[in-house]
Amino acid sequence: MSAQPRLWITRKLSDNTEARAERDYDVVLNPEDQVFTPDEIVERSADFDAILPCHSELFGAQMVPQLSQRIKIIANHSVGVDHCDLAALGARGIVVTNTPDVLSDATAEIAMLLLLGAARRAAEGDRMVRNGDWAFWSPSFMVGTKVTGKRIGIVGMGRVGRVMARRARGFDMEVHYYNRTRLAADLEDGAIYHDTLEGLLRVAEFVSLHCPATPETTGMMNAERFALMPDGAVLVNTARGALVVEDDLVAAIVSGKLAAAGIDCFVSEPGGNPAFAPYPNIFMLPHIGSATRETRDAMGFRALDNLDAYFAGREPKDRVG
Ligand code: DGY
Repeated sequence: MSAQPRLWITRKLSDNTEARAERDYDVVLNPEDQVFTPDEIVERSADFDAILPCHSELFGAQMVPQLSQRIKIIANHSVGVDHCDLAALGARGIVVTNTPDVLSDATAEIAMLLLLGAARRAAEGDRMVRNGDWAFWSPSFMVGTKVTGKRIGIVGMGRVGRVMARRARGFDMEVHYYNRTRLAADLEDGAIYHDTLEGLLRVAEFVSLHCPATPETTGMMNAERFALMPDGAVLVNTARGALVVEDDLVAAIVSGKLAAAGIDCFVSEPGGNPAFAPYPNIFMLPHIGSATRETRDAMGFRALDNLDAYFAGREPKDRVG
């Protein structure tokens, strides 16, 4: 019998991550990258001491009590843990970890790409040239919104939010933020604090969401909140789809309240929201904030570091439950 802990990696991860896992664990991989339902996860759980899932696997309040007693730790390959019911997992004594820090640069890159692409109509322009539809040019053609020197409002000034603030400063943007607690001056780095989301939205010409999806933040960007924003503002979401009431976002785009939006995360994934499709000023990506080769290795290694610590009898660095 193997002395190594038995580990299930639920999705296809980077080659380097899988090689390290094969070296150190009695691991079952998923080379076909099959997506498992909660029932299938429950069924398989009796074979494993640990699971290394992604945000695509749901550990909800209904299924967690049915997991095998053998499961000791869920070492997520994600910073977000809204797919895990932490209370239910805690009640079962299952340790939960995530992968913070290592995806902050990659996610802020995508946020900046969305911000620029939405403001300057990148997807629309690309489509036009690609389709052979570019038959006209004039000074009034494809006019967008200037980014440089504008006010950006960052909602959630954690690790990703702070990298986004640095990138925005590269465009001479004036950085404002809302966070549950005000940051120390060195972390704030000149950013202007608002102690309410409403206060931030009233001044922010661009809003970028960087907070987790929790019961408190779900639906926070709704019609009432969009109404507070300056006319012609731009919304960027690289955090979680649940933060935005998507019908209200469409209404804000239709009315012109928002000039544009850049969206990497949707309420329903994969697939996104077909109601966004008719609007060329909604620039969309398929949840690829952390999808770089370097970041995938770093996320995999961070999840394995947490497992290594747990099975060596130490507290995992990134324990969230
Ligand atoms: C995260 O880490 O939460 C990203 O959304 C990818 O799962």
